[in-house]
Amino acid sequence: MATASEYKDLSMVGAANDGLDRDCTTLSRHVLQQLQSFSPEAQDLSALMNRIGLAGKLVARRLSRAGLMEGVLGFTGEVNVQGESVKKMDVYANDVFISVFKQSGLVCRLASEEMDEPYYIPENCPVGRYTLLYDPIDGSSNTDTNLSLGSIFSIRKQEGEDLDGKASDLHSSGRNQIAAGYILYGPSTMLVYTIGRGVHSFTLDPSLGEFILTEENIKIPDQGSVYSVNEGNFWQWDESIREYVRYVHRTEGYTARYSGAMVSDIHRVLLQGGVFLYPGTVKKPEGKLRLLYETAPLAFVIEQAGGRATTGTMDILDVVAEKLHQRTPLIIGSKQDVAKVESFIQKSH
Ligand code: AHG
Ligand code: MN
Ligand code: MN
Repeated sequence: MATASEYKDLSMVGAANDGLDRDCTTLSRHVLQQLQSFSPEAQDLSALMNRIGLAGKLVARRLSRAGLMEGVLGFTGEVNVQGESVKKMDVYANDVFISVFKQSGLVCRLASEEMDEPYYIPENCPVGRYTLLYDPIDGSSNTDTNLSLGSIFSIRKQEGEDLDGKASDLHSSGRNQIAAGYILYGPSTMLVYTIGRGVHSFTLDPSLGEFILTEENIKIPDQGSVYSVNEGNFWQWDESIREYVRYVHRTEGYTARYSGAMVSDIHRVLLQGGVFLYPGTVKKPEGKLRLLYETAPLAFVIEQAGGRATTGTMDILDVVAEKLHQRTPLIIGSKQDVAKVESFIQKSH
């Protein structure tokens, strides 16, 4: 039986937890606090983030029951614009983002990895000045084995009228993003976002159905021990990347981590430091990852946390998109680790 003093300790633990519960900051409230305003712009951003959170909850709910339902896992038999086999979850998640923004009045256009062309919501277009770019499921190959997955998002303000319906104003740099982040479907569901005022993480409390603030102003360590890269591509890379990987192999203190979903790998790097790489290969000199809805949003997050993201020769956020599904190599993470990779690339030029 517990003694009186143990009871007191236990009740203090309870009180501390109650305190945390009571002080919970929801996502939409956090955005308004960040902007310190109730201006229409601030309300828009708060509503946008809230809708992204809703999409995340819907995807998380389906993933958590995937093994219990028919028709959730596996391939559709289709191939997407990237030439990749489409999974049923890719389609579901793609449609979830469309449907949560349909009646928002905020978003006129959505562009995603799973759609050849931007998707217009005509009824929103007279007032909806925002465009959502997204990767509905990042790390699709993990879907059928109950491993971590992500969704990546980026919000831009529409420039001009887009009269030809080609969304050519998206052919600009990542510095034009007004918000970006990701949702990580792991043991718990987390949402990480930036609106250019630091990086903040939220955890989905399933009992409330709300994303609750976990950590504000996350700062990435300047250096870490993790290097995260698919070494199966070793002989496909440029010699400079091979030299870097040989360097980490012979240097004490490095450890490899690679999950197949860069949202999880980059989340680890954000919290614990290190570097994630997806370099170009002989077959794909621009690599695999897409600029507008994969590398640019993650670069925005990591830069805001004090890290770096580069193609190897220029900052990802300075790359001007020439087409919707443009790819870029990616080296992202702690300042010193990214600089180390760059030093090998520079040596080879
Ligand atoms: P997606 O599932 O959206 O196509 O992206 C997968 C990406 C990234 O998340 C991951 O790190 C990488 O592709 C894995 O690719 P490899 O199997 O070529 O390493
Ligand atoms: Mn992806
Ligand atoms: Mn994807």
